[in-house]
Amino acid sequence: MGNKKFFPVSTENLQVDTILSFRIYIQTNNKFVLFRKGNHPFSEETLYRLIANRVTTVYISEEDMAAFEKYYHEHNDPNKSNISTKTFTPPYDQPDIREKYFNIYLNYFPAEKNVFIPGIPIDFTVYQKNGLEVEEYFGPKRQGDKPEPIPDDIHASQNPIVIKNSDISLYRKYLKKLVQECSSSRGISTELHCGIVRENSKLVIKEVLDDPKNGNNIQKSSSVVETLVDNILGQEKTFYNLMKITSYDYYTYNHSLNVCTLSIGLGILKNLKRNPDLFELGLGALLHDVGKSLIDPQIINKPGKLTDEEYIIVQGHVAAGTKLLEDSSETIPKNSFFPVLQHHEKISGFGYPYKLKEKRIHLFGRITAIVDFYDAMVTDRPYRKALEPFDALKLMSEYPDDYDQVLMKDFVIMLGEQS
Ligand SMILES: [Fe+2]
Repeated sequence: MGNKKFFPVSTENLQVDTILSFRIYIQTNNKFVLFRKGNHPFSEETLYRLIANRVTTVYISEEDMAAFEKYYHEHNDPNKSNISTKTFTPPYDQPDIREKYFNIYLNYFPAEKNVFIPGIPIDFTVYQKNGLEVEEYFGPKRQGDKPEPIPDDIHASQNPIVIKNSDISLYRKYLKKLVQECSSSRGISTELHCGIVRENSKLVIKEVLDDPKNGNNIQKSSSVVETLVDNILGQEKTFYNLMKITSYDYYTYNHSLNVCTLSIGLGILKNLKRNPDLFELGLGALLHDVGKSLIDPQIINKPGKLTDEEYIIVQGHVAAGTKLLEDSSETIPKNSFFPVLQHHEKISGFGYPYKLKEKRIHLFGRITAIVDFYDAMVTDRPYRKALEPFDALKLMSEYPDDYDQVLMKDFVIMLGEQS
């Protein structure tokens, strides 16, 4: 390694859960030591190992710099800031970009395009989201303006659509009217039916997360789970349609719905009974991250890497969620606590909060651990792009000691049938 040149790179520029196509070195006693071989995933564990050792700068050898620059451009949207490859400042460390991000995150609701039928008039404004910009797309501009029909080309555009949180009640009315109109006239396709079920479920989960201490909201969660279980058991096609989503941004309510749906799907493969097993699993899966609603959104949704202290605060969502459900005026089935308590446990014992090993983790905990990690990987985050399902599963296969391998096989089969 004598004359080899090395270039410093901040760990901020390595995105968790991506494959690093280059080697990374660390510097100890004035020597560059190989830390990670090329073409390996960069996991959260690896990052925290670096942080624990106070390493914030790693080194890339001259021969790997081209691979690093390619990686850097693939994982950092150049439109989001005008940084050059030389400075490598994470865009979300810039206050104006961070403010824009939180403005969208906290004030808009991501709607699914497949429930928007061209020609039907709507009385709220729909916006198009392009990176961190939100622009008016269609619908009346001001309250009281005449309703405007949904444009014909709504499904042609790639950009996700969002509505203002303050228009959610109008959106809910639109969905209700849509069900009535479709069932009285042309009938309703499975796809549209599933889209409406998804949107209504998302709205309920949002309410639960916005006001988790309200016992009525827990009651509403139960009826969402009942509907999902019935729909999934009713028809295989429905399950795959429920999983079909058009917006991939991360929102806790989207994630909760996905974890619930996938857990029920996996539960069916394990021949769990509808009552009470699938229902209890589904309810726990839907509420698995409810504790996040009690944590500062600026930390929970921080568009960048967490500090050690922030990471500990985030980990607290498991205990917070459990306490919330214990204190609820509604009785929650005992087994529904397992997904909440154990979805971050790992078979290897390296999970949290209890570092439980193997069969000490309940089946519901093992199911939700797989589904939770997978769904997080296939969702866009500001600091990394979503992985394709195949790559997410490949990444998980790199950690065979962390996930129940029998369940993993079933999960892969289940997703294989979807595609
Ligand atoms: Fe979680």
